[in-house]
Amino acid sequence: MRTAIPQPFSGYLEALREAGLDRRPVAVLDLDAVAANVTDLGRRAAGKPLRLASKSLRSRPVLERVLADPAFSGLLCFTLAEALWLAEEGLSDLVIGYPTADAEGLRELAGSDEARGAITLMIDSLEQLDFIDAAAPGHPEVRVALELDASYRPGPGLMIGAARSPQHSAGELATLASAVVRRPGFRLVGLMAYEGQIAGVGNAGRSVRAAAVRAMQAASARELAVRRAEAVAAVRLVAELEFVNGGGTGSIESTGAEASVTEIAAGSGVYGPGLFDHYTHFSPRHALHFGLDVVRRPAPGIATVLGGGWVASGAPGPDRLPTVAWPRKVHFRGTEGAGEVQTPLVGEGASALQVGDVVWFRHAKAGELCERVNELALFQGGAIVGTAPTYRGEGKAFL
Ligand SMILES: Cc1ncc(COP(=O)(O)O)c(C=O)c1O
Repeated sequence: MRTAIPQPFSGYLEALREAGLDRRPVAVLDLDAVAANVTDLGRRAAGKPLRLASKSLRSRPVLERVLADPAFSGLLCFTLAEALWLAEEGLSDLVIGYPTADAEGLRELAGSDEARGAITLMIDSLEQLDFIDAAAPGHPEVRVALELDASYRPGPGLMIGAARSPQHSAGELATLASAVVRRPGFRLVGLMAYEGQIAGVGNAGRSVRAAAVRAMQAASARELAVRRAEAVAAVRLVAELEFVNGGGTGSIESTGAEASVTEIAAGSGVYGPGLFDHYTHFSPRHALHFGLDVVRRPAPGIATVLGGGWVASGAPGPDRLPTVAWPRKVHFRGTEGAGEVQTPLVGEGASALQVGDVVWFRHAKAGELCERVNELALFQGGAIVGTAPTYRGEGKAFL
């Protein structure tokens, strides 16, 4: 017997058919879920502005929709090429969250007053300033922000968190800040520190691992609050900072509680991907799904969908695979995983699947799905109300 398909998945298919979008692969963005997630991110930020992490959305109309909410202000971009494009499209307050070695882009930045007004480059050493000077000799003043390392170092040789900036202590960052303000062609306007070990690591559950993660995150938050405040105070002695950015979707509460932080970065919480299923203090709605067709039945207990190997970046492991959202009790085959062109699915729920059925998935990470599809079908109030191009759909492949 076949179980009736529950909402939202049955609603998706009917609505897609009505909208003439009855083809797979398809990505569906539930705008009601997006609205609920945006509201919840704002509630968690408790009045501190949220800077929207564009890499976690990768669709210009969706970025604009979220930015219309008063809780959000400005974008945290991921490449210079992206920021230059967004500036041309009329967006402003574009902080690039990562250093760049895009010489052509730097020349473009140097040549545009509008772009230089809108874009802030991220640096963590003088080497990057040398690169900018060599790429665009005699360039007019460009806005730069300094990145402070936010990793947790509980003992010699131990580093928990992303390997990002070499500037770990307040003193190190202050030395760099003094050198930047002395250097012609640069204006120091901001500071950023991203505590990925708190913001990006799920901590829910009763396992020993989950308890250890919670303990590490609490200790790291305490340590970082002190170090970040010292670094901000030291840098403020030599430069007037417009912003101090920290955190991400998973750390809004702890980052926002720090008086020295003026804004919090967040993006993934808008879509609510698989890696954000396991946090104690928030549960985003699952706003973004992709659907694939069942195309064959290799054996009674196996149903194969076309495509599916949309595996997330990061340290490889099962948590990087998509999540099967519907039907229930369906999982990947251990020997094949999620395949490039076909994905055999097994489990109790796979037996009932027939050719032409649709299996719904979620990506493990928020923005990466948008590198696989040209558009998102926008679902609202039970109907498809339009489509939004992804960056890829606008012909833009930044990373
Ligand atoms: C600098 C920086 N800030 C914030 C974030 C958090 O983004 P999200 O809210 O999408 O997890 C990231 C994600 O990697 C990041 O690199």
